Amino acid sequence: MTDLALIARALFTPGKGVLAADESVHSATARLASYGIPTSAEMRRQYRDLFMGTEGVEQYLSGVILFSETMLEKGNDKKLFPESLAARGILPGVKVDLGTEPISTSPQELITQGLLDLPERLAEYKKQGAVFTKWRAVVRIDGDQLPTAAAIHENAKRLAQYAKEVQTAGLVPIIEPEVLLEGKHSRARSRAVIEEVLGTLFSVLEEHSVDLTSVILKTSMALSGSESGKKDTPEEVAEDTIAALMQSVPRKVAGIVFLSGGQTSDEATANLAAITRRAKEVHAPWPLTFSYARALQEEALSLWGGKEENVLAARTAFLGRLSKVSAALG
Ligand code: 13P
Repeated sequence: MTDLALIARALFTPGKGVLAADESVHSATARLASYGIPTSAEMRRQYRDLFMGTEGVEQYLSGVILFSETMLEKGNDKKLFPESLAARGILPGVKVDLGTEPISTSPQELITQGLLDLPERLAEYKKQGAVFTKWRAVVRIDGDQLPTAAAIHENAKRLAQYAKEVQTAGLVPIIEPEVLLEGKHSRARSRAVIEEVLGTLFSVLEEHSVDLTSVILKTSMALSGSESGKKDTPEEVAEDTIAALMQSVPRKVAGIVFLSGGQTSDEATANLAAITRRAKEVHAPWPLTFSYARALQEEALSLWGGKEENVLAARTAFLGRLSKVSAALG
């Protein structure tokens, strides 16, 4: 195995997964505001420290995805966040895309930015201690109209260019084409879109000669849209999610992590448990784990409310959720 493939594999250490703590300033502000917490650079630092400073997280976390701002900040232990994670055996990663903007020819769809100065930024992140990176593309479903083939293809091209640059820089790429939960679509439509998006993505990755043995796929689960009025059972989610992945993801891929995408913490935990059971039944070839943000954070954030006196209770809730999500890995 190459060094990069070994790093990728380490993120799938049994019983462990990845915390996504890479909300941009804009997303972190919105996240904190939704819990009534006013934002400032210091409040964002405390928000990061709430999770990364929790004693014992190394039992459940193989990696944490950071935002560029956090790479340069210190936790309450006075250590830079990436150094503090590494000292506990948790791999530090960083989100390297620069967010999305509407596509001029299809303004309801989004294209991800950030390729222009990527090699220079990767060199900096590597110096700061990152060993893996993430790039998120967004796919919106609207009936049979969206996503368009052109948007799927352009996002796939950028994900492939990103992955190639990242491997050249000596880092592991996580490629994340997130199929949004928002919408009225059925679970069958979600599955079909995931298959189409991943089918296109892996053929474009091949064209760009990306080494799949050190690529990690971060994917949505196949779910009925949040405005469909339908709640899927974990078994339904697992069957369609694993079927879509078996159909479109090459065996060589280093592993697959799931995002929570707006599911509740309990839904994301139960669905992950059913997915890992189904993967075993069908002998899926890749290791699987979680890479959640909201589903790991929500209970802790509602207890914390930005107040020092609530830190202990919030961290206890975070550890409790981590232990449930870890148990869901089987
Ligand atoms: P959620 O688990 O909240 O969907 O976030 C994961 C992520 O990294 C989205 O880019």
